[in-house]
Amino acid sequence: MAPYSALAFGAIVLLSAHSHASLLPHSIRDEDYLSKRASVGPVTSGLPSGWKYGACYVDNANGRVFAEEDPDNSALTVESCISSCTSQGFSVAGMEYSVQCFCGNELINGAVTAPDSDCNMACGGSATEACGGPNRLSVYSTGTITTLPVPTTQTTGLPGNWQYVGCIEEGANGNRVFPYQIINTNNNSAEACLNQCGAFGYPAAGMEYGDECWCGDISDVTSNSAGNAPATDCNQACSGDPIHICGAGNRLSYYTFQGGIANWNTPSNTGRYEIGGVVVPLLVTLGINNKVAFLEKFGTSEFDNSTGAYELDLSLVDNFDLAWRTMHVKSDVFCSAAVVLPDKAARQLNIGGWSLQSTQGVRLYTPDGSPGVNGTNDWEENYEELHLQRQRWYPSALVLVNGSVLVMGGEVGSNGAPEPSLEILPTPEGGPTWIFLDYLNRTDPNNLYPYLINLPSGKIFVGYYNEARILDPVTFDTVQVLPNMPGSVTSFLAGRTYPMEGSTVMFPQHAPYTDPMTVLICGGSNFGVALDNCVSIQPEVENPQWTLERMPSKRVMPCIVSLPDGTFLIVNGAMQGVAGFGLATDPNFQALLYDPTQPVNSRISILNTTIVARLYHSEATLLYDGRVLISGSDPQTPGFPEEMRIEVYYPPYLTDGRTQPSFTIEETDWNYGGQYSITVTLHEGTTSTMRVSLVAATSSTHGNAMGSRTIFPAFSCNGNTCTITAPPNANISPPGWHQLFVLDGPTPSFSHWVRIGGDPGLLGEWPNFPDFTLPGE
Ligand SMILES: *[C@@H]1O[C@H](CO)[C@@H](O)[C@H](O)[C@H]1NC(C)=O
Ligand SMILES: *[C@@H]1O[C@H](CO)[C@@H](O)[C@H](O)[C@H]1NC(C)=O
Ligand SMILES: *[C@@H]1O[C@H](CO)[C@@H](O)[C@H](O)[C@H]1NC(C)=O
Ligand SMILES: *[C@@H]1O[C@H](CO)[C@@H](O)[C@H](O)[C@H]1NC(C)=O
Ligand SMILES: *[C@@H]1O[C@H](CO)[C@@H](O)[C@H](O)[C@H]1NC(C)=O
Ligand SMILES: *[C@@H]1O[C@H](CO)[C@@H](O)[C@H](O)[C@H]1NC(C)=O
Repeated sequence: MAPYSALAFGAIVLLSAHSHASLLPHSIRDEDYLSKRASVGPVTSGLPSGWKYGACYVDNANGRVFAEEDPDNSALTVESCISSCTSQGFSVAGMEYSVQCFCGNELINGAVTAPDSDCNMACGGSATEACGGPNRLSVYSTGTITTLPVPTTQTTGLPGNWQYVGCIEEGANGNRVFPYQIINTNNNSAEACLNQCGAFGYPAAGMEYGDECWCGDISDVTSNSAGNAPATDCNQACSGDPIHICGAGNRLSYYTFQGGIANWNTPSNTGRYEIGGVVVPLLVTLGINNKVAFLEKFGTSEFDNSTGAYELDLSLVDNFDLAWRTMHVKSDVFCSAAVVLPDKAARQLNIGGWSLQSTQGVRLYTPDGSPGVNGTNDWEENYEELHLQRQRWYPSALVLVNGSVLVMGGEVGSNGAPEPSLEILPTPEGGPTWIFLDYLNRTDPNNLYPYLINLPSGKIFVGYYNEARILDPVTFDTVQVLPNMPGSVTSFLAGRTYPMEGSTVMFPQHAPYTDPMTVLICGGSNFGVALDNCVSIQPEVENPQWTLERMPSKRVMPCIVSLPDGTFLIVNGAMQGVAGFGLATDPNFQALLYDPTQPVNSRISILNTTIVARLYHSEATLLYDGRVLISGSDPQTPGFPEEMRIEVYYPPYLTDGRTQPSFTIEETDWNYGGQYSITVTLHEGTTSTMRVSLVAATSSTHGNAMGSRTIFPAFSCNGNTCTITAPPNANISPPGWHQLFVLDGPTPSFSHWVRIGGDPGLLGEWPNFPDFTLPGE
């Protein structure tokens, strides 16, 4: 708002007098005006309790002296202005120019008093009460009036390593310098703004118009700002800190974080991609036959040539026709969930699906055959014999510590009513035994494919929308509600589960397993704006809090895969939108590596980019040789195809010219705490620099693999023979199959499959019906 000058005021009075010329003779108007001037004055009695007249103050010598202004009111009185300020919780009120009412708790911008006679305009609604004058305020208050100095730019006492850079202009043609805007109506300050930008990993920030806080990168300023502005252009008081400046119109008080916040590594070896494929897999599972089982949504597929199930023999990829075995499912797996069972055969269990009976589907496949030799087993399913208690589209599943399977959440059908409940497989006797979950009911539809993790205490972590809690493993009652997950810099309410889908894993566990366990969740969406951060928490420490780390780019629908060296590869997804058909664009082509052994904000390395856009329904799966299979998508977004091509990605540990180590193993059915021998062949280092890892068998859908877990067990070597001590119990390592790797320096071997903890839930005897083949005890 432009300051009024006395000259401008004079001009307005003259115009207004002339405009009434046809109604009143000049002489009467002028007399009337002069008589009002003569009789107006401050109100000294009858004011609301506690209020009294202070003084006439000068406005606009250095900007407005009040922070808040009401809309103009032609019926303004001193009483009506005081009443308005009181109702807004303010203790100081000012009337100016007959019709303007201002409120605050102090006077800012170096306010000084003027002679009372300067405040000589009658209020619009009272001929005798003074309501200021041109650039003059009649000021009333409930106590002593505090006047604050003309604001200055805050250059000291800033949080962290923030430093003031200068006053800069916004971009030309209305373009904004920074991408993220926060309006802090009453509480903007350098400290509040810099803290918020810094908390979300943005090293550049600007304050504008007093109440706006903007976050971004230094490169945003280089690319978008129209340039430096004179320091005096930034002259508006911060809405929450009136002695300091927060920019002005079209001007930003610009600050940067010295040294950066998130320091992304840019290694020269970034891995490479190879391409080939036939399906858009919805679920991808590496079997203990070292072949990859794919399930595709087929009832709803764009192509009618799919049976919905395939198995890829990686040893035959050079011969496309031999490599793909056709399999069959009886019902539609579109958007089901899957786990690998701890039974002897490592059967793959798939549950839920799309529409009617499919939503209660329970399907099992026993991987067979061997590299180069087709298996003959197929998916087994019979709704009449075996189905879920509830209909579930987008549920999650997890093998529990006691060897049964937890199934949670979903909706009763495609975009249907919520199914906010859990149930157990094998279905306990005496049903119905499913349990209603109010927190899933409350957060529907933003909690699909909830995150499920077995914690080292034996309790269960569940993450959904932007919330998380810990459940009792027997009753499934909530034992602790965790803090909400931070979202985007502009909103706490962004989500992490479908449709605002991120991806979750847990940090590796190292013998002797005394460190608290960390849950990591990367990506998500703020209702369409993809998130550029990962959040992590140690759920079982005292007073658990989320740690936020910024990613170098935005990503919704990321796929995170656990690598044998304890790092995580983050690939696929979009920079804009949410999960679902046609709801995302702007693919993210860049692979990232997340290394949990590095300090916070230095854990992410930027790896190679692919040429294949992978949006909705894309996956990343660790192969037995240390490569990663990357598959999908069917986005149904115009311009992006049903993507049949499948890539293998060679992480940097396979592209630095080293030879992969190897090992032999005899005993692959491990008991908790047991000792098992391997004989290793290393090429680079010695057994003293060797590592051993166990990567849990999982099935991946929508970028998530419930039950994923990496364990670095204790071992000791004598020559080339090393003895590994199996993890101590099911809480540390729930029963299941694992890929055992040896790492020679950075380089992993091929894996051997081991089962740890047996089959305590006796799944090998389930389901005992004619249409299912049982692996037995
Ligand atoms: C400013 O106040 C709003 C509304 O009370 C609140 O939501 C926000 O967190 C505050 N911002 C800061 C930076 O304190
Ligand atoms: C990235 O991968 C491509 C193949 O997709 C490969 O040609 C290129 O050399 C890789 N870049 C680096 C730096 O390794
Ligand atoms: C199905 O048809 C599509 C389009 O012609 C083709 O790309 C794909 O390879 C086919 N898939 C199978 C399993 O034959
Ligand atoms: C495996 O079976 C598929 C048919 O499902 C066939 O096309 C392929 O040639 C077979 N592969 C081998 C190695 O026999
Ligand atoms: C589930 O949520 C819906 C919608 O908010 C509500 O109407 C219903 O009462 C809830 N159900 C229960 C059992 O709390
Ligand atoms: C595992 O725990 C669940 C929940 O208490 C229970 O329903 C199930 O029967 C248990 N399984 C076994 C094998 O004890």
